[in-house]
Amino acid sequence: MTLNEKNIHKAAEFLRKSKFTTAYTGAGISVESGIPPFRGEGGLWTKYDPNLLDIDHFIQDPLRAWEIIKEIYYSHFGSAKPNKAHLVLAEMEQRGLLGRTITQNIDNLHQEAGCKNVFDFHGNSKRLVCLSCHTYYAVTDVNLDHLPPACRQCGGLLKPDYVFFGESIPQIPLSAAYEAAKISDVFLIIGTTGEVMPANQFPLIAKENGATIIEVNPHESNYTSAVTDIFLQGKATEMMELLAEALFTPSLDND
Ligand code: APR
Repeated sequence: MTLNEKNIHKAAEFLRKSKFTTAYTGAGISVESGIPPFRGEGGLWTKYDPNLLDIDHFIQDPLRAWEIIKEIYYSHFGSAKPNKAHLVLAEMEQRGLLGRTITQNIDNLHQEAGCKNVFDFHGNSKRLVCLSCHTYYAVTDVNLDHLPPACRQCGGLLKPDYVFFGESIPQIPLSAAYEAAKISDVFLIIGTTGEVMPANQFPLIAKENGATIIEVNPHESNYTSAVTDIFLQGKATEMMELLAEALFTPSLDND
C-alpha cells in the first residue's frame, strides 16, 4: 500500500469517527472546474493586479474595475461547474459526515454541488449589492452589458457581493468559522496556501482545540508542516474520489 493509500484510509477512519467535521476550502478546489488559483502557476495575481479587488480602487474608477471584474468573474468563470471534489463534499454532508463548509471561494460551486451548510468567508460573486441603498440582486438579473451597473431602486453603484481588499469579513461567516474551529473533531483543508488573513487562522485555531487536520493539495502549503496531521498530496478531484471510495464503501480489513 502506498503512503497516499495509507493516508486515505487513515483519513477515512478519522472522518467516520468524527462527530463534527468542517471542510475548509480555497481556490485549489475549483481549479479543476476551470477557475485558476490566485497564486502559483497560472495564478490570477500573475496576470492581474490584486488592486483590482481593492475597495478604494473600485470606488475611484468603477468602470475600469468593473471591466476587469466582468472579464474575470463573469465572462470567463461564470459558467464554471462543480467538480468531483465539490460533489464528494456534498455527498459527505448528505451522509452526515460533513457538518459545515467554510470556503474562501466566491464561485458558489459548493452550493451548486448541493452543499447546504456553506459559509462564504469572502462573500459570493453570484450576488451584487448596491453601495448606496444595500439592495441585493442576483447577478443573472443585472445586465452587465452596461458598466458600471446601477441599482434599479436608487441608481447607486452596484458591487459584486464579495469582500474586496480593505473590506471587513461579513459577521455571519466569521462567527461560523470561529465556532467551527472550536467544535470540529476534523478540519478537512482543501486547496489553499493559507496566505491570507484572517481566513488562514482557522486551521491553526482548530488544531489548538484538538482537531485532526487533513489536508488535500498537490503542493505543500503554509499548513503542511505546521498543523497538518494527514497530508493527501494530489489534486482535489483525485484525492476526494479516493476518499469517497474509502469512506462510502465499508473497509474490508479491520486495520
Ligand atoms: N487541487 C487542490 N489544490 C490545488 C489544485 C488542485 N487541482 N491546484 C492548485 N491547488 C492549490 C495550490 O497548491 C495552492 O496551495 O490551491 C492553492 C491555491 O492557493 P491560492 O491561489 O493562494 O488560493 P487561496 O489560498 O484560496 O487564496 C486565499 O487569497 O487573493 C485572496 O481572496 C482571495 O480567497 C482568496 C485568498
